[in-house]
Amino acid sequence: MALLEVKDLVVGYDAFPVLHGINFSVEEGELCVLLGLNGAGKTTTVSTIAGMLKPQSGSMTFDGKELKKGSPSARVAGGISLCPEGRRVFPRLSVRQNLRLGSWVRRKESKTVRRQLELVYDYFPRLAEREGQLAGTLSGGEQQMLAVARAMMSKPRLLLIDEASLGLSPTLARTVWEVTKRIKADGTTVLMVEQNAGALPYADRALIMEKGTLVYTGVGDEIRDVNLREAYLGV
Ligand SMILES: Nc1ncnc2c1ncn2[C@@H]1O[C@H](COP(=O)(O)OP(=O)(O)OP(=O)(O)O)[C@@H](O)[C@H]1O
Ligand SMILES: [Mg+2]
Repeated sequence: MALLEVKDLVVGYDAFPVLHGINFSVEEGELCVLLGLNGAGKTTTVSTIAGMLKPQSGSMTFDGKELKKGSPSARVAGGISLCPEGRRVFPRLSVRQNLRLGSWVRRKESKTVRRQLELVYDYFPRLAEREGQLAGTLSGGEQQMLAVARAMMSKPRLLLIDEASLGLSPTLARTVWEVTKRIKADGTTVLMVEQNAGALPYADRALIMEKGTLVYTGVGDEIRDVNLREAYLGV
């Protein structure tokens, strides 16, 4: 059984459909990358899984249970955490305060929160160095690290990351993808949205989206194929 299963999902804004019935699954323990150009529907997809948008039709199951209506925070409590597009850190709060907010749903589990804090500081030592600094004064790359770390603070089973590499240097983008791979290796399943085909080598499964439809899904070495990049991504 897949950890996440999406069936015939139709989602739109004001009844105007943007996702036209997509189907895919993410297996437990996988790092799955969802690739597509601007406006393909990637953010719409992960926002719906995170409970921020309501599907018009179709279904989503997580760990065998249907994801019904429910607030985004209920999804976080249930094990699904989103690192949103554009980072959305709280600029006037410190690094540590941002991280504490990420663990809000687990605020009564002080041991878990402490362990997650150690873990994310181990992933991103830079954040530990800047623990007391206001998030708004961090560099773009550091803010992105903070956004990923904050999403990890709820100890999710499924981490959704929306375009972490956007606006980062190639070196910083690789750093973030390397950490994402470590997060997966440490047991968190990851669905990572990207426009940058450079993320493909890090993935176990790839989905390619065009205009609200999945045009390709593949696993293993086949997704490292150069033709794939040319055919779908114009790289
Ligand atoms: N709040 C909104 N209201 C109306 N239409 C929207 C809204 N958000 C997105 N759309 C439309 O839905 C489509 C898919 O957008 P979405 O943000 O999901 O794409 P994306 O693949 O994440 O793109 P990008 O790579 O630029 O982030 C686009 O045509 C977009 O204009
Ligand atoms: Mg997007």
